[in-house]
Amino acid sequence: MTYQEAYKKLGTAGQLHVLAHFYSLTEEQQKNLLKDIDLTDFTVLSYLEKREELMKKGEITPLAVMEIPEIEKSRAWFESLGYHAIRQGKVGTVLLAGGMGTRLGSDEPKGMYDIGLTKPVYIFERIISNLLDVVEKASAWIHLFIMTSDKNHEATVAFLAEHDYFGYKPGYIHFFKQEMAPASDHSGKVYMERKDKIANSPNGNGGWYSSMANGKILEIVKNRGIEWLNVFAVDNVLQRMADPCFIGATIAKGCVSGAKVVKKNAPDEKVGVICLEDGRPSIVEYYDLTEELMNAKNEKGESAYGFGAILNYLFEVKALQETISKKLPLHIVEKKIPYMDDSGNFIKPDKPNGYKYETLVLDMVHMMENCLPYEVDRHYEFAPIKNMTGIDSVETARKLCLENGIEL
Ligand code: UTP
Repeated sequence: MTYQEAYKKLGTAGQLHVLAHFYSLTEEQQKNLLKDIDLTDFTVLSYLEKREELMKKGEITPLAVMEIPEIEKSRAWFESLGYHAIRQGKVGTVLLAGGMGTRLGSDEPKGMYDIGLTKPVYIFERIISNLLDVVEKASAWIHLFIMTSDKNHEATVAFLAEHDYFGYKPGYIHFFKQEMAPASDHSGKVYMERKDKIANSPNGNGGWYSSMANGKILEIVKNRGIEWLNVFAVDNVLQRMADPCFIGATIAKGCVSGAKVVKKNAPDEKVGVICLEDGRPSIVEYYDLTEELMNAKNEKGESAYGFGAILNYLFEVKALQETISKKLPLHIVEKKIPYMDDSGNFIKPDKPNGYKYETLVLDMVHMMENCLPYEVDRHYEFAPIKNMTGIDSVETARKLCLENGIEL
């Protein structure tokens, strides 16, 4: 891209400040910046004006959850269906590890964080160890697709190789990178990371399937005959993936997707709530849940929206294929964005200073014909690490690991 082309693209997007230092840059830096401008999709920024509109929801009604007592009654049957699918190679797992983990505040990829007390116990290690439990019981390896981003790809790949993949078979691990999006200040002007680099960040966890398609990873899925993908977050250290009972229950109910959910510990707990939106399955983020819905009761007198999704979804590959042509809604999220100030200093803000533009995997549920909400015991399966201390933190996750007999 030439300077003139860049000027035109930025002018249209109202982002000409990106070129402010252009003539003070070396030739190499100028080239880098022009390439960055060429690769950046500035159109997402125009959604800032429509933020209110983007947040509008359809009609929300309850969706029945398969609760633990019902699961227990059919556990043997569900597990046999699940193990059968796993042994036939029909199940793959997708670890979403492209996030920046800004709330945790570590410079390394979140999966490299060590939660050990007496010995190193890395988040990646915990997750792989849980997956190995299923591999051992099934006597079958399960493909593990790991999504990274430009920001953490090299570090993640090197770390897992250095630790011999924590015992996982390397041939069953496949990395792919997600795409990036620019980050802006509150008025929609993109931040600069350096004079020759736009501040960009991973474009949210919703892009995983299209990134798999772009990275040719989907060919592996298709060639190996994988029919189900279990997508999960890196930060829940008790995460149970490729769970045979969950897979079997989803198959038995004839559903094209499933979502692991937990009973909320309070009506205002900060988890996305599973429900129907305009008659289709949906997950409504806690900040979109009105007071009225938060306190609504069902016919049994229980909370009508009392189950939260824990970012562990099962999707039928066939159903995912149909989503590829559809656009996921954009979420404009307030975050801390490191940037270069007017004097050229690199600043790491200690409070949110702008927006990131992301799509989210939870919106894929709304694209599905149906979804089985499957309850799991939160003390056994839900220990998210978002912060260093306090709620959903290293502290709370350590406590839950110890309560589950995991040595730290
Ligand atoms: P979070 O929503 O907690 O985001 O991610 P984050 O970036 O890790 O953390 P904060 O908000 O900056 O503190 C939930 C899951 O989605 C993945 C994360 O790695 C985590 O497993 N994720 C998030 C991606 O893979 N890509 C993204 O762009 C964002």
